[in-house]
Amino acid sequence: GADVGKVYDKLGIFTYDPGFTSTCSTKSAITYIDGDEGVLLYRGYPVDQLAEHSSFIEVCYLVLHGELPKKDQLEAFEGSIRRHTMINEGVKRFFDGFYYDAHPMAMLTGVVGALSAFYHDTTNNKDPKHREIFAHRMIAKIPTIAAAAYKKFYGQPFMHPQNNLDYCSNLLQMMFAVPAEPYHVDPVAARALDVLFILHADHEQNASTSTVRMAGSTGCNPYAAISSGIAALWGPLHGGANEAVLNMLDEIGDAKHVPEFMNKVKNKVEGVRLMGFGHRVYKNFDPRAKIIREQCHKVLKHLGKENDPKMELALKLEEIALSDDYFKQRKLYPNVDFYSGIIYEALGIPVNMFTPMFAVARTVGWCAHWMEMTADSSTRIARPRQVYTGAPVRNYVPCDQR
Ligand code: ACO
Repeated sequence: GADVGKVYDKLGIFTYDPGFTSTCSTKSAITYIDGDEGVLLYRGYPVDQLAEHSSFIEVCYLVLHGELPKKDQLEAFEGSIRRHTMINEGVKRFFDGFYYDAHPMAMLTGVVGALSAFYHDTTNNKDPKHREIFAHRMIAKIPTIAAAAYKKFYGQPFMHPQNNLDYCSNLLQMMFAVPAEPYHVDPVAARALDVLFILHADHEQNASTSTVRMAGSTGCNPYAAISSGIAALWGPLHGGANEAVLNMLDEIGDAKHVPEFMNKVKNKVEGVRLMGFGHRVYKNFDPRAKIIREQCHKVLKHLGKENDPKMELALKLEEIALSDDYFKQRKLYPNVDFYSGIIYEALGIPVNMFTPMFAVARTVGWCAHWMEMTADSSTRIARPRQVYTGAPVRNYVPCDQR
């Protein structure tokens, strides 16, 4: 409307950028991506080198603190994470309130948000020590919370963390062990999870990290900010894609149905997409997908599942997609989530726990971004503008005269 237009004239020039395809919302020194070349660096280190030689806990230190730790620094960091793995009994009782079939991501969002009611000592966001305590707590407790969500889903008793185990072995133990029965963590499974977690640790300003930063920019409780990130991660276009890929493979069922499915995708029938394909930034290939595909082969071989029908179907889909003009023209390649679900499934992790696994790994990235943002004195509240398309100014009409 004319009057509204006048108001906008007064505001100066704005960029209209739906989906923020060409907007940098912040400066950051944590992660670098070159989408054309398929490069991903954490603090300057190529992710493939970290996946091969490092451990998730070491990568956590790197992502949080900017440098690889010396031996004593790594020991101190690991010790701090181990010390914080328990969750308060009050936090545990939140799980009693959920229905047994609640989605674990719903439980994760709620329970992590509830941590803000337990930890007030970190609300002084300006104190670096408080920021660090928050990050250590969050990284330490998120596997315990994710495993508790899994146990709730299966109606099994909650397993306490065992702090003699490494990060991923502990998570597997909390998920799969049952009281009074011996449980031995398979080191190949634990290492596969560790590599997956390294690959998921951070990815600059993706939707969930941007959500954490946006919420955090208001100065809110950091646990509440992480909870908002978990909610954003859940969507099928973001972290929920790993779950969607497995559901898609189940739906296709057999390689003979692939052409029919591909026609649906290419004709955009009911908005069907090839889940696990495409990325906002990677227009060549997602370096994480290559490593995960190799890990997939390794894990399936170790478990004697070399002829896993889902893996065969996924490889077939990839082969067909990569040689198809629809995908070539749009530069759509497998992303991090295309193969990760196959590994999770081979490890016995149910489909609805795939995205919580992603959330556990990404927690360090969210914490690092929150810490970076909070330490930066030039941070301002994130407050985008809009292009108003509503009614022009009009006068209120009493109800009986409408
Ligand atoms: N299958 C089929 N077509 C696709 C796919 C796909 N997976 N992804 C994109 N396209 C098509 C779109 O239909 C569009 O076609 P058009 O030009 O004819 O309109 C074109 O490619 C560009 O797609 P956009 O949606 O505009 O790309 P955007 O950068 O906004 O979205 C996204 C990126 C969300 C990842 C998208 O590729 C997608 O939906 N992929 C499937 C879901 C998925 O795997 N998400 C996980 C991403 S990784 C992560 O978050 C951890």
